[in-house]
Formats: sequence, structure tokens, C-alpha cells
Amino acid sequence: MNNWLIRNARVVNEGSTVQADVLVRNGFIEHVAVEGIGQARGAQEVDAKGRHLLPGAIDDQVHFREPGLTHKEDIAHGSAAAVAGGITTFMEMPNTVPQTLTQELLEQKYAMGAASSVANYSFYMGASNTNVDEVLRTDPRNVCGLKAFLGSSTGNMLVDNPETLERLFSEAHLILAIHAEDEPIIRRNMAEAVAKYGDNIPMEQHPLIRSAEACWRSSSNAVALAKQHGTRLHVLHISTAKELELFTPGPLEGKRITAEACVHHLWFSDADYAAMGAFIKWNPAVKSATDRAAIRQAVKDGRIDVVATDHAPHTLEEKAQPYTQCPSGGPLVQHALPAMLELMHQGVFTVEEVAEKMCHAPARLFQVKDRGFIREGQYADMVLVDLDAPWTVDKKNLLYKCGWSPFEGQTFRSRVLRTWVNGNLAYADGQVDRSIRGMRALFDR
Ligand code: DOR
Repeated sequence: MNNWLIRNARVVNEGSTVQADVLVRNGFIEHVAVEGIGQARGAQEVDAKGRHLLPGAIDDQVHFREPGLTHKEDIAHGSAAAVAGGITTFMEMPNTVPQTLTQELLEQKYAMGAASSVANYSFYMGASNTNVDEVLRTDPRNVCGLKAFLGSSTGNMLVDNPETLERLFSEAHLILAIHAEDEPIIRRNMAEAVAKYGDNIPMEQHPLIRSAEACWRSSSNAVALAKQHGTRLHVLHISTAKELELFTPGPLEGKRITAEACVHHLWFSDADYAAMGAFIKWNPAVKSATDRAAIRQAVKDGRIDVVATDHAPHTLEEKAQPYTQCPSGGPLVQHALPAMLELMHQGVFTVEEVAEKMCHAPARLFQVKDRGFIREGQYADMVLVDLDAPWTVDKKNLLYKCGWSPFEGQTFRSRVLRTWVNGNLAYADGQVDRSIRGMRALFDR
């Protein structure tokens, strides 16, 4: 059933919010009418009762762990949690097992997405020190981008060979998304911390080991290289105020160098390590409240172009290990939009800014075909939210395979009521329809 008439919605789209009816036919948005729509034969009616309808969010950085790490997460669980959180399209990272380093392995991931994803999907092609020729065979029309870890994180996918980097930056024919943290600086800081504390390094040390200096060294080098070669560079998960100097305010159109911020760097600060410990251990690390304030401001002024999650689950057992063995990352897709809307309630963002950074801008930045807007002719990827229906994150309402969230105990004022993926009602009344399958995202390139 993918014909719908949604009445009396406050449609949040392209900088404004207007009361309108939305007609969906055969999975596409057919009509958005401020004057209202009379009868629509064959369409199921929903009265939105003045609640807010946003485009489905597009998350350009998730780790759904399939294949090979499915004890942490898999595409079925990750995509179900995503639609419950209003995310209708995701772009997934190559640090799986095996790593996504050949076209054949990449296509195998697309087959896995087709088999089990409730949301629309795209998978990055991974770069290593030795696979540039394979990377350059990636089809820009049906793959979101290339991913290079310039600092190693889960899976040790480091690209650090100078000739490889030179080739990647000069020959990349589609968006090159990078993880930027300088490996030698991290190794030096880590050795010092181990000498001082042994394995049980206090979690508060994490932003001093994965330091602001490590972020700056790597991201500033990458931006310099991109300027030299005209690379279409996208710097992921900015975590420091200093790095924001590298980016330009204003709309993303025309930019060759863009940046992403993640929800955890907008929400948490180093003051939270004492209470949250390993549950907020991410790479790059959550840093100071000053950094967080600067990143929030950069989201508003355009130096940060998109907001994503870096959803990266690990099991509770893995997270319980001492610092040196405890992996970085945590699950976020189910709570990213409610968290951003909470920041709206706190006066940090407007609802239109949330839609811009989580829905429209990722679509424009990656040239996603026919998604990211509530516009006639686009796929009906939409999320209906109640901005005033408080609920508390609890183990019982988590959809993650890992069974925990850094937001447990947090009350959010905003609640996702319904999520449509290609006009299919994928989430309603707290339930995901796991029989629904998303589509492979395509790109206008
Ligand atoms: O904290 C992180 N965890 N950052 C990354 O970039 C990778 C991720 C993971 O895959 O666990």
C-alpha cells in the first residue's frame, strides 16, 4: 500500500513550514497542497492533526557491521532502528569483515542491502594503501562515495602511503569521504598514557590521546591536498573548533570541500566522560564544551554542511573492557532526529535547520536522485513527528542489536510517529514493518 493522503500536516521543507495536505501515489509525492486536497481515490487517509512532516533523513555515515561483525549489528536491525528514528536512507561504511575493498565485495553488500534493509541504502567503496585502481572503477551513479581512513579506527583501514594518497586525491572521480586523525600523534599520546596508567587509562584521557592536535594535523593536511588537486573532499565527524577554520560558511553549492558533524559531538562534551565512560568513547573523541559550541555554530553558518550519526555499535561486553581494548563507537540512528529536535527545543537549532542539515543537504551534497525533499515528483520518504510528546529512552524501546544506547534515561520531547520509505509505511505506532524493503539509492552525477 503506497498511496496516501496525509491531511493537515505542517510540512517542513526548504526553509519554511507550511500547513498542507500531501498526496502520495505509487511511492512518489504527487501533490503538496496548501489549499488542501479533496478526495483521493484509492489513497489511505491520515490526519496529521497539525504535526510536523519532514523529509526522511539521509544519514551519510553509519556502520551496520554486515558482513562479518554481525554480533554487533546487521543491516536488518540497523535499518529498522533507522526508520524508527526517521532516517529513510543510509550510507554505510567499508570497515566490515571483509573490508569493502573490491567492486565484487561492494556489490555483495548491495545484495545484502536488497535482501534485508527496511531503509534505502548505499555503501561506500573503501580505500586501502593498495587498491586505488579498484577504487577508481566505482560507478558514481549508484555508489555514494569513496571512504578513506586517514587515521585508523575500528578495523584498521588506514591509508597512509604518500603515493596512494596523492593518487586518491588527484584521481578520485567521486566524493572522497575521510576520517581525519593523525596516526603518529595518536600513537605517541597512547604510548605516554600506557606508560602512566597501564591498560586502565581513565576514559577522560580519550580526547587527550585522540587529541585536537591529531585532528588538526590530519584534516588540515587533507584539505591542503584537496586544494592542490581540486578533490571533491568530504571531511567526516568534525570534533574541534580549530578545524572549522578549514571550511567555508554559506550554502554548499559550488564547494569542493565539505564537512559533516555528528550528533554525539553536538550533544556530549568531555564533562560527560565521568558518568558515561566507554558509552561516549568515539573516534574522533568527544571534546570540550567550547568545541561543541563552535560546531553547533558552524552547523548554523554552513561551515558544517550535514549532520549525521556515525552509528557504530559494539556489544556491552566489548565496551566493558579496559580503555586499551575498549572499541570506539556507539549506536545512534534511532535517536539522532529526536536528539536534534531536542536541541531545537533548547533553542540551538530551528526545525527548518534540522531538516536542512539532516535531509536536504545530504541529498544535495551527494546528488541523491529524487530524495531529501517534500517535493512533487520525489520518492515519498517522509517522517511525521510530534514535537511535544515526551518519551524516555529505555532498554525496552531500543531496536539496536547491541541492546544499549548512550541516551538511555534521556527524555526527548519529540517523537517519531510514522516513517514512510518510498511511500511504504515502514514505522508506525512504535512498530517497524520489517517486511518492507528499501531501494538502492541512485545519484544524479
Ligand atoms: O568511533 C568510531 N567507531 N569511529 C569510527 O570512525 C569507526 C567506528 C567503528 O566502526 O566502530
